[in-house]
Amino acid sequence: MKKYLVTGGAGFIGCNFVKHLFEAYDNIEVTVLDKLTYSGNKDNLKELESKNNYKFVEGDIADPAVVDRLLKDADIVVNFAAESHVDRSIMGADELTQTNLHGTYVLLNAAKKHGVDCFLQISTDEVYGSVETGSSVETDFLMPRNPYSATKAGADHLALSYFTTHGLPVKITRSSNNYGPYQYPEKLIPFFLTNALEDKPLPLYGDGLNVRDWLYVRDNCTGIDTVINKGKIGEIYNIGGGNEITNVEITRRILEILDKPESLITYVKDRPGHDKRYSLNSAKLESLGWKPEADFAASLEKTVKWYLDNRDWWDAIKQKNKEYKEFMEKYYKERQGG
Ligand code: NAD
Ligand code: DAU
Repeated sequence: MKKYLVTGGAGFIGCNFVKHLFEAYDNIEVTVLDKLTYSGNKDNLKELESKNNYKFVEGDIADPAVVDRLLKDADIVVNFAAESHVDRSIMGADELTQTNLHGTYVLLNAAKKHGVDCFLQISTDEVYGSVETGSSVETDFLMPRNPYSATKAGADHLALSYFTTHGLPVKITRSSNNYGPYQYPEKLIPFFLTNALEDKPLPLYGDGLNVRDWLYVRDNCTGIDTVINKGKIGEIYNIGGGNEITNVEITRRILEILDKPESLITYVKDRPGHDKRYSLNSAKLESLGWKPEADFAASLEKTVKWYLDNRDWWDAIKQKNKEYKEFMEKYYKERQGG
């Protein structure tokens, strides 16, 4: 019996990972610890609520009391909990530093006190900074360029210091841009595809030529699983999708799937410090037997279909959520003058 503590499990990647665990294993217990911030939704895991080996705890990873209690009974910690949006991190970084840095510290400390078999810190390709040519390997220098990626890089260093100094069995994954079901409609793919469905403009930053490497979320989940089971302690593993594409091209593909006109594309003021390109070399993880399974075109269509079939899920955010509306007001103000 393996006991997992999954922090941030009510968010996009976390909920897909918890679903993956229950599909892949019988002999597990999973506790999700989630603060239910704007991007967390307990109902993302509703179908698991009747299981007696699943438990949801509403709480903050920066709260030592709740973290201490849960770490007493965990074998494997997977830390997804984070403020995850770059644009929000540029608007203000109070909660971001508190969760991404201090929260990770609180978790590491409790893991050190109680002992765990594995502490997996979920990181990102953004820590390498903008990659003009070639692809990042795990030993590259970290050059984060926005507050979000800077806190993620800081958390990586902190986690690795707990391995080096205290012998905590830390591992780190750095993945590229995920897409798939349950992604909050502030990130490019769900934001643009739901806007297109509402016949609203798609605000593309700068010249639209920035490049991201898209990874289907379930491929990230199998990559994380591989690192937990086969990865070496104290090591970092990149998880890339192998689908590098410009923002304008992915926007065109979304419009084509939905049969919506390209005239919906509106060029707006660029994101400050906008990283031009991310690119990961995932050979280290592939040497453990992992590879991404998803076909990009088919999985993008599957993702679009999920949003078409689950309109209630995103309508509850876009139409009814006050916080989302306030964020969007600020967002559009910042993007004026492009
Ligand atoms: P998300 O914003 O959808 O989910 C984050 C979750 O963390 C939410 O459920 C939220 O309620 C929870 N949370 C936030 N602060 C918390 C706190 N203090 N205590 C407990 N829970 C808290 O984000 P996501 O896209 O699912 O990202 C998950 C992780 O993966 C993050 O660490 C992010 O940096 C990393 N990541 C994301 C991507 C991507 O493309 N989305 C790529 C690489 C890495
Ligand atoms: O690379 C991994 C990272 O991917 C994760 O660590 C982050 O948590 C995740 O949010 C994501 O960051 P990005 O900044 O790459 O993702 P986002 O969806 O915000 O933007 C993708 C690209 O699209 C980026 O070049 C900015 C651009 N963009 C984004 C939005 C929201 C636009 O042109 N217009 C927009 O409205």
